[in-house]
Amino acid sequence: MAEPGSVAERIKQQADIVRVVGEYVRLKKSGQNFTGLCPFHQEKTPSFAVHPGKQIYHCFGCGAGGDVFKFVMEMDKVSFPEAIRAVAEKCAIPMPEWRGRGGPQAQQATQQRRLLLEMHKAASAFFLRQLETAEGRVARAYLEDRGLKPETIARFGLGWAPSTGEALVRFLRSKFSPALLDLSGLASRDRNEQAFDRFRRRVMFPIASESGRVVAFGGRAIGDEQPKYLNSPETGIYTKSHVLYNLDRAREAIRREGFAVLVEGYMDAIALAEAGIENVIASCGTSLAEGQVRLLGRFTKNIVVNFDLDAAGQAATDRSLVLLLGADFEIRVLVLPSAEGGKSDPDQFIRKQGAKAYREVLGRSPLYLDYLIARARRMDSGTIESKLRAVNFLLPYVRLLPSPLARSEWASRIASELRVDQAVLRQSLVQAAAERRTEVKARAELLTAAVTPAERRLLKMLLDADEFRERLAGEIARGEVHRGLETEKLFAVLLEAGLPSNGSAEELTALGERLEERDRRLLFDLAFESAAEPSWEEAESCLAVLRRRQFETQLRAVQAEIEALKNQSGGAGTGGKVELLRLLEKKQTLRASLDRLEG
Ligand code: UTP
Ligand code: MN
Repeated sequence: MAEPGSVAERIKQQADIVRVVGEYVRLKKSGQNFTGLCPFHQEKTPSFAVHPGKQIYHCFGCGAGGDVFKFVMEMDKVSFPEAIRAVAEKCAIPMPEWRGRGGPQAQQATQQRRLLLEMHKAASAFFLRQLETAEGRVARAYLEDRGLKPETIARFGLGWAPSTGEALVRFLRSKFSPALLDLSGLASRDRNEQAFDRFRRRVMFPIASESGRVVAFGGRAIGDEQPKYLNSPETGIYTKSHVLYNLDRAREAIRREGFAVLVEGYMDAIALAEAGIENVIASCGTSLAEGQVRLLGRFTKNIVVNFDLDAAGQAATDRSLVLLLGADFEIRVLVLPSAEGGKSDPDQFIRKQGAKAYREVLGRSPLYLDYLIARARRMDSGTIESKLRAVNFLLPYVRLLPSPLARSEWASRIASELRVDQAVLRQSLVQAAAERRTEVKARAELLTAAVTPAERRLLKMLLDADEFRERLAGEIARGEVHRGLETEKLFAVLLEAGLPSNGSAEELTALGERLEERDRRLLFDLAFESAAEPSWEEAESCLAVLRRRQFETQLRAVQAEIEALKNQSGGAGTGGKVELLRLLEKKQTLRASLDRLEG
């Protein structure tokens, strides 16, 4: 991101985010900010805001946010340097020569991620070249045998990891430090501390972020070796739950088509794309994660879930449905009819029955409730118990429906399909709907409620309180009062990153990139919040709240240990007694500390 004194920073100081965003979004002045319809997700009421003072944007709906460069990168799907150039052009700022300059320690992590990205790019090119070697040709034959055209292999950047076990390591060593190699997930170390390739004798699938930068790999064995797919571990640039395979290539098509097809595997996504169904993404593990749902939500709220419907796939579908419903997706479920009654994934289906057949069933995919009703009907053997089971299976999904009208309609449908009494069913639905309110409320306010006012205030001060920010950071770090808090990670990142000097946009954006989606949201929410001038007295009282909470938590833990020890049969041995004494002493110390705080 824009380092102090860098070209990027100078361009940004002169750029006007309102003007740049205004080219894409119709903005209206509203108080300090400008608001409009978010370009990153579909919405009818504006939840997208631009803050001219801080030069940042933020969507309170989907959580998208960042500085002017991030905005252009996301909208135009361009790299950071390209975005700088574009912003300079849009605002008629002369572009000086590039002159990179390293920033303070705060930029070190950014630098490391940049290098990891570079390394993955190099590795990706390396694997690609290996397809041309004698050994790699076997892999190419394997892929072609599975029906992939050479163009497809090239388009998805598929490659080959050689079997020697040190080919990649040797190649990367000439360009990157051993320390960086250790952090990359591309190498492991043997008993003699020698680095060797993590991926050996595997067909390599590069996994890219939504902006198209390779952040990880999946490697498929071409024989029966286990595991069938070996994936990169999580690294500084790869968080599994935040990446959807193929989203970088699919995003355009997803916007165009207005929906996405979700499949399980790499090969499924590739087979669909090859067949011309390009709005396809893969979860690459069975179930969908919440971060992945949010990520997708930036592009569409319409999805067709097409998992393999074996037992694991069905369970994954159910879990994914709940997450998707919670994020207000309109969901269809595609169940592929398998020719021989065996398992049929999208890839196999297309190979056997062709793209046209796939398109046909895709077009007929039932709404998720129809799919669920079909399953419920199979549970219903006619007995009261089985009917009850079927209804109970459906209710949680129905009650997740936001509109009362839809709930009522589905109630009639379910009643008639399962042949249960309408009145009784409606009664349970009303009940369920009441529960839903509390549940939905709980979800929406999960973060805000779990984050105490004291935490919020302290975070805000860490961002804004110029006078005593450093001192406050020191206090928090010293007492570790953030441990165990809902916002622990956010505090830790703020403390570790060195504090933003003025909550400026590029610093926020850089920080945001290191955070989980919900923490990132909170960070941006806080940045947008206008708050009273902070004072050190207030900071101290917030710290006291957290310290008290910390002692109370510890006290509860000690008490639980004490109870456990007392309940243990035979816990009265000498060892047990010594331990009990130790715990009682600890409890007293904690009590005393608490009293001191309160007194
Ligand atoms: P599947 O076992 O259904 O494999 O796993 P597939 O996609 O049909 O693979 P092919 O067609 O045999 O090549 C679905 C997905 O789950 C993940 C992979 O992302 C895979 O694409 N997976 C599976 C793993 O990560 N590791 C494994 O060992 C197996
Ligand atoms: Mn498959």
